[in-house]
Amino acid sequence: MRSKASIKGHPIHPILIPFPIAFLIGTLLFDVLHLTSGNKSYWQTGEYLEIAGIVSALIAAIPGVIDYFKTVPPNSSGKKRAVAHGLINISLVIVFAIAYVLRNNSPLALVIGLEAIGVIMLFISGWLGGTLAYRNQIGVDIRYAGAGKWNETHVADNKGLIEVATTDELKTDQMKLIHIGTKRIVLGKTDSGYLAFDDRCCHKGGSLAGGTMICGTVQCPWHGSQFDCSTGIVKAGPAKENIDVYPVKESNGKIYIKY
Ligand code: FES
Repeated sequence: MRSKASIKGHPIHPILIPFPIAFLIGTLLFDVLHLTSGNKSYWQTGEYLEIAGIVSALIAAIPGVIDYFKTVPPNSSGKKRAVAHGLINISLVIVFAIAYVLRNNSPLALVIGLEAIGVIMLFISGWLGGTLAYRNQIGVDIRYAGAGKWNETHVADNKGLIEVATTDELKTDQMKLIHIGTKRIVLGKTDSGYLAFDDRCCHKGGSLAGGTMICGTVQCPWHGSQFDCSTGIVKAGPAKENIDVYPVKESNGKIYIKY
């Protein structure tokens, strides 16, 4: 799923997160060095790193929030994982902020203890973030050869026939993601014409628009379930339920979906 917070297709969130990770782990390391050596300069360095870590974490959160709302498929296992990832990140920033406030007027062991908790949370959050990237493919542009440019549009949430594309917009086996209000429908072009079907894979909510469509069959990018694009019937699991399909009409060079 191509990130909405990206520069020329490169997602921004993964570019920024190494900074808070390095700064916050560095905070704990330098404070422990101070504890073991008594050297004040380590303590001062830890303080600077703590400020840098908190500020860079807040900056890195901005594209992360954009991707949460705009890229992660709704009603999916990825969405739940993204919620946990975000909540742990907010919590660990609060833990480090408390440690920063306490660092010059509280026992050293308390400050270092809080920072150690924050670093453990950082590892858990990083694990979830890695799963979001490498399994849920959030921000990963996985378009297959011939898939064409990533194609997506928002249209008004009207009932009845909705104009969603022009007839020359897609080549065979290309797809376009249509947002109708909060509903996500895929328009795909096959050898036999245009077809429309739900974007949401009924296994764990993967976005079919980010998958592969060949010969009228679409494959989910998350765990490989396959659906017949014209009937919505499952052709291969792990999905067990069919997806909804929608009538498509071509008229005067325009494509309409009946919704
Ligand atoms: S979400 Fe698992 S196969 Fe689609």
